[in-house]
Amino acid sequence: MLQNVMLTTVSDKHDQIKTFIKEELEIFGGPLYQPEDSQHIESEPQPVNSEINDLSVFNDAIKNCMSCPLGASRNSFVFGAGNPNADLMFVGEAPGEREDMEGVPFVGRAGKLLDDILKAIDLSRDDVFIANVLKCRPPNNRDPKKDEIEACEPYLIKQIELIKPKLLVALGRISAMTLLRKKDSLTAMRGQVFNYHGTDLVVTYHPAALLRNPNWKRPAWEDFQKIRDMYRGNKRG
Ligand code: URA
Repeated sequence: MLQNVMLTTVSDKHDQIKTFIKEELEIFGGPLYQPEDSQHIESEPQPVNSEINDLSVFNDAIKNCMSCPLGASRNSFVFGAGNPNADLMFVGEAPGEREDMEGVPFVGRAGKLLDDILKAIDLSRDDVFIANVLKCRPPNNRDPKKDEIEACEPYLIKQIELIKPKLLVALGRISAMTLLRKKDSLTAMRGQVFNYHGTDLVVTYHPAALLRNPNWKRPAWEDFQKIRDMYRGNKRG
């Protein structure tokens, strides 16, 4: 019994240390951060060669994708959700467990926080489109791998081409590094406006990181106020 309690405690500590390191690296980056085989893609993504010009038809065309090994382990293909004509589009990393079960992005605790943040800037999911770099869940929520990103990113680019948002928001360092082909800290990438295949892109904290470290909620709120202002400034109609 005591041994079980001690094992649990050691395992909890291990998880806490892992979370702490992940948080520090998420924000500050650094030479320690070498997620296996991921993010360091130099080639430009290949566009999807498709005449499709409707988002739900595109979903139907790709939802049985088996281009990478994640196709075999997924429960759901998480295409993305929201307004197909949104001016504002969020890009997370990859579906987690709940998203994989439900087929909808950001439905877990991080998603609830994202909903609250959207509400605080007078928006809802019906106003925006939410997608991920990967459409299928990596086992145990590990970081996306290079070959998975290479296989999946063309879908994201096609989604952006169809939705034509005025502003893209990368949620978290991994999404930003992946999209921007840049190995940098979140701190360095926040506060800049990048160009992603012709669309403005800004970077902010991943909502899951905000759940782990509430001290980041204030700077995140500053980011979201800027996002709101850029969105209002650029809105169609
Ligand atoms: N985290 C992400 O990056 N995307 C989701 O859809 C859920 C959690």
